[in-house]
Amino acid sequence: MSYLDATQDLYKQAALTPDVGLCCTTNPIWQFPGLSIPKIMQEMNYGCGSTVSAQDLVNNPKILYVGVGGGMELLQFSYFSRQMGGVTGVDSVDEMLEASRKNFKIAEEENDWFKSEYVNLVKGDALNLPVEDESIDVAAQNCLFNIFKIDDLKKAVSEMYRVLKPHGRLVMSDPICEQPMSGELRNDDRLRAQCLSGSIPLKDYVKVLTDAGFGTIEIRGKRSYRVLSPNHYPTKELIHIESIEIAAIKDPMPADGPCVFTGKTAIYFGDEAYFDDKKGHVLLQNQPLAVCDKTAAALASASDEIFISESTYHYNGGGCC
Ligand SMILES: C[S@@+](CC[C@H](N)C(=O)[O-])C[C@H]1O[C@@H](n2cnc3c(N)ncnc32)[C@H](O)[C@@H]1O
Repeated sequence: MSYLDATQDLYKQAALTPDVGLCCTTNPIWQFPGLSIPKIMQEMNYGCGSTVSAQDLVNNPKILYVGVGGGMELLQFSYFSRQMGGVTGVDSVDEMLEASRKNFKIAEEENDWFKSEYVNLVKGDALNLPVEDESIDVAAQNCLFNIFKIDDLKKAVSEMYRVLKPHGRLVMSDPICEQPMSGELRNDDRLRAQCLSGSIPLKDYVKVLTDAGFGTIEIRGKRSYRVLSPNHYPTKELIHIESIEIAAIKDPMPADGPCVFTGKTAIYFGDEAYFDDKKGHVLLQNQPLAVCDKTAAALASASDEIFISESTYHYNGGGCC
């Protein structure tokens, strides 16, 4: 049995018998005015962060959500889109599609603004999406892509790139891990399917996105997720896993490489009123400007009167690259 089949099996079971501890997040479950999230959806929250941000959801976007789980984030997305078929949910596990379909009916009873028809559930594979080219404004996945081995991860990301319109956004939450893992951990299909042993370092994750063509990357959140300790897992040292929230925007690739925002800020502290690098970045004296990592490095070498702050990994828009 391949690891992909083991993953199908695990989520078939998680659809039939909700497993509250399967994925556990340290971020809050977003509650919005007039939104009631059914208890069963919360119990079937198999994500590791949030992919729902109001900033992505202006102008009636067409939304695609891959790996539906219990449907909680599709309900949250529907809260913003409120149109028939506004959110398409794709999942490869029949039982999960059926469970989420039932959960949307419960959501309908708890929310007078919501109709099940706002969500279009489709059986399909993240590695071969049943979705037309350039038809989606916002594509999302939560805690699925980390399960994929590298070639499948590249395929899944290229599928998302294909279906997004120009300037469309891929918003994701996934575990990452900066430490090496033993072969035993990496090759344990069940741990991989549980989102515990497939995660890769952040810079490798970002490279998969930029290699696929995404010109702008935003690291929106980074939090502690799990540890794999030698007394519970086949590892000699304690391994720390974090979860990230990240957006990849289908902007054209800049000639000098992608803009990756990790939460750095540039502040000019010279004696002039402002510093102009003549490349589109004007820093007013003692005013912070959010910059991508590429611009942060260029400004640092252009002047010794510019302070560059450390990455916060909590970038939420603004600034320039
Ligand atoms: C870790 S769960 C995450 C569920 C949901 N995103 C959440 O945050 O609660 C992974 C989901 O992806 C689905 N899945 C697994 N393999 C898939 C594949 N190859 N293509 C599409 N969906 C898949 C599972 O059925 C499950 O719903």
